[in-house]
Amino acid sequence: MHGPKIRFALIILCSIAAAPTWAGNRQRAHEMSARLDCGINLGNALEAYHEGQWGLSLRSEHFDIIRKAGFRSVRVPIRWSSHAQPTPPYTIDPRFLARIDWVVAQALAHDLLVIIDTHNDDMIHKSPQMHTERFLAYWRQVASRYRSAPDTVLFEILNEPHGNLTSAAWNRLIDRTLKLIRETNPSRMVIVGSAEWNGFQQLDNLEIPETDDNLIVTFHYYSPGTFTHQGAPWVPGSSAWLGTSWGSADDHKAVESDFVQVKAWAVRHDRPVLLGEFGAYEKGDPRSRVAWTRAVSSAARRSGFSRMYWDFATNFSLYDVQQNRWRTDLLDAVRADASK
Ligand code: BGC
Repeated sequence: MHGPKIRFALIILCSIAAAPTWAGNRQRAHEMSARLDCGINLGNALEAYHEGQWGLSLRSEHFDIIRKAGFRSVRVPIRWSSHAQPTPPYTIDPRFLARIDWVVAQALAHDLLVIIDTHNDDMIHKSPQMHTERFLAYWRQVASRYRSAPDTVLFEILNEPHGNLTSAAWNRLIDRTLKLIRETNPSRMVIVGSAEWNGFQQLDNLEIPETDDNLIVTFHYYSPGTFTHQGAPWVPGSSAWLGTSWGSADDHKAVESDFVQVKAWAVRHDRPVLLGEFGAYEKGDPRSRVAWTRAVSSAARRSGFSRMYWDFATNFSLYDVQQNRWRTDLLDAVRADASK
């Protein structure tokens, strides 16, 4: 019932954020980044070991629902490593690639920009050197497959580098992966974030080629983790955080000051910034979740960053697949107006 209204409001908000005025070679990247706003992560589908295992199998109607709510983009986390030969040449299963083709085609048919994001490649974080060739082999296949796709298909090299993929190791891997991608996709928009789980604190250590203008820099924001990840089973010790609320003046100040730092980095480097993930796990109290989501989304928008909420329909979800409806309080918070 609220579909058209919600869509209209989001289109207005998103198109205000999308009015580009930048000059020079970076203009296209700034424009493309603005076009991503607002987006949503199709989390816990294709980055599970097998689609469906973590609560979501994508269907055509999901893209329709997302577009009708006014979103402009989807980020598709993908675990190639569960669907590829374990030895050279690391061939990705053609059936899985066909499934990704379907997802990309659905996004495009619904007028959504789509990010192909390598996600949950556990071994590259543990033993980067040993797994570089395998990692590059995936990108060689994927980049070649989508070389003629429209520019509304974007690549994200790797979600949340961490562990032994330190800044130094990650910078080397970025360099090799980008060179490889550029062989077949010279002007494709590529998204890259910093080491340490795409935290903004590591942005100063991120090395990206100055001559490559077709890059969007991403960061993820889940601070404070004691609030956003309370009771999250994959975070050791997080059950002790249950009951943490959010919303004091100091809480708001902390978000503001973090975003000021990211903005300063973005201006210094003249790079567009995508807040590629933000959200609060479902165990937090609903009012605090809405307040946090609104504050973070607003701060991003005021900073000129595009935003993608984590996630669509599982445990941080905006959309209740059982009831077939948006959680409208959270949805409103995601599309927060900068003036609020
Ligand atoms: C991870 C998800 C997790 C989310 C929030 C994502 O990058 O892949 O498993 O739920 O971050 O922690």
